[in-house]
Amino acid sequence: MKKTGQTISSGSRKMELRVVNSQGAGMDSKKSEQSGTTHFGYQKVLESEKSTRVGAVFSSVASQYDLMNDFMSGGLHRLWKRFAVQLSGVTTGSRVLDIAGGTGDLSKLFLEKIGPEGELWLTDINLEMLSVGRDRLVDAGKMPPLCQCDAESLPYPDEYFDCVTVAFGLRNMTHKAQALKEMYRVTRRGGRLIVLEFSKVWKPLEKLYDLYSFKFIPFMGKLVAKDEDSYRYLAESIRMHPSQEELADMFRESGFDRVEYFNLAAGVVAVHRGFKM
Ligand SMILES: C[S@@+](CC[C@H](N)C(=O)[O-])C[C@H]1O[C@@H](n2cnc3c(N)ncnc32)[C@H](O)[C@@H]1O
Repeated sequence: MKKTGQTISSGSRKMELRVVNSQGAGMDSKKSEQSGTTHFGYQKVLESEKSTRVGAVFSSVASQYDLMNDFMSGGLHRLWKRFAVQLSGVTTGSRVLDIAGGTGDLSKLFLEKIGPEGELWLTDINLEMLSVGRDRLVDAGKMPPLCQCDAESLPYPDEYFDCVTVAFGLRNMTHKAQALKEMYRVTRRGGRLIVLEFSKVWKPLEKLYDLYSFKFIPFMGKLVAKDEDSYRYLAESIRMHPSQEELADMFRESGFDRVEYFNLAAGVVAVHRGFKM
């Protein structure tokens, strides 16, 4: 595994960001799959292109990301994240991996749960999102280790974490099955994976939700983040994401047991939980 460390600073703040270029489990098979195509929202793109396109979206929205989340969900995303942390069952001293952690909302909540005896890593593939997350955590008086890495090739040992989490990140990954396999690998026996993600809304609400997603969200994106296209991608990527049942099956295929999910806001989002037995 090849690693390079990089220190980035913001004003007087300094914290190490470990930039990891890993050749971990599954990378060879991943590379050989890369001649195929996948979706980026409703567009068909080369698999090798998708992460660059997703990267451009999050680099563009990083500075307005938190504000937009509050606007789009009316603040509900905070409750959804609290619920996910509650379901994780982590306690003082737990080891937690926050994947695609972005601006650090979940990390902040987990750090309160695990206390100074615990260990939490805030990770994301995108440096801009991670930098915003770092600043927010430092402002809150917290300094967990951060790592810029791809969920499809995690630079962590087998069976290390009590809990692995992803909030609103899995949808953006090119090879979701590979990412879930990696999450399974780094989870200890008895540990669990928690995925909070947009899902399939209750059928009678579909029309209203379409209106909200394809009209209101891009409009707000244009107004607040000056980026309509990225927020159109958000709406499209939600439609392309597996349903509650499909994702539960993917958990099982990756090796997780006792898989269940909890719908929130009539299925606008769902929290999936699975255990490594
Ligand atoms: C919608 S944001 C979610 C951020 C945060 N977890 C939250 O709930 O607010 C999605 C994040 O997934 C990250 N991401 C996308 N693909 C990734 C990958 N393959 N590995 C790790 N992170 C990824 C993006 O960079 C972005 O920060």
